[in-house]
Amino acid sequence: MDNRPIGFFDSGLGGLTCIPYLMKALPNERIVYFGDTARTPYGSKAIGTIRNFAFEITDFLVSENVKMIVIACNTISATCLSELRERCPELPILGIISPAARKAAVSCANGSRVGIIGTKVTIMSRAYRSKILKFLKSVAEAGQQIFEAPCPILVPLIEEGITRGDIMDLSIRHYLDGFVMKNRLDTLVLGCTHYPLIKENISQLYPGLSIIDPSAEIISSIEDSLSKHESLADGADGADGGHVFYASDLSENFVNMIDRIFEGSGFTVAFKNFDLECAI
Ligand code: DGL
Repeated sequence: MDNRPIGFFDSGLGGLTCIPYLMKALPNERIVYFGDTARTPYGSKAIGTIRNFAFEITDFLVSENVKMIVIACNTISATCLSELRERCPELPILGIISPAARKAAVSCANGSRVGIIGTKVTIMSRAYRSKILKFLKSVAEAGQQIFEAPCPILVPLIEEGITRGDIMDLSIRHYLDGFVMKNRLDTLVLGCTHYPLIKENISQLYPGLSIIDPSAEIISSIEDSLSKHESLADGADGADGGHVFYASDLSENFVNMIDRIFEGSGFTVAFKNFDLECAI
């Protein structure tokens, strides 16, 4: 048993999409979340820049005495997971790509045509494709059922709170109309933790698509890892029991979204602005 918090981080508010799933599955767990809202989006930045930002945030979460770190960002998971694990060998660090890739591999094995959308960096890394193919090692031709498309404008719109209406729908259609049609997709992986916030729009625009949401898929890996390390919380942590949400720029949108997640839950939630001083 270990009542220390789990550290989550993302380039902004996208990683918050994991939190409702976590609270439902593991209500005793406490969260320290870091959203790098001042420097978002990461998905079009150089890998070295993303790595420096990720190191800085990981060091901060370690200083907050977390028992595990969840990289609630596909872009960071795609580019720096192994370096972050090398930097903190004593701490379980989970990337968000593997659990969703496992589910996508099952879909491929059942004959599905799977599309992956994400940031430029995630798609260029081909992290989803290689993980899916690793899970499907006996099926060499499965690569022909996997299709990838970067959707760079979606994250800035979501960070601005523009998740509904014509601007968002047109942006989604700009990227997905041709991609879904031409490749005859039946399954879509939301390969960016911001995209679950527009899942409804995507489902309405493409009702036949079955959607894989990495923010939901990661939860069973968190539970497995905590069980394996005998560090599930028992909720008996008294005054220490609240969740803490840090942002490098505490925007109204960030605070409102967290308020919506915790509304009526009875949990204590604290917000903190945190000034990062990265060398870059
Ligand atoms: N939520 C991040 C991801 O999953 C967004 C990346 C960005 O900041 O561009 O990739």
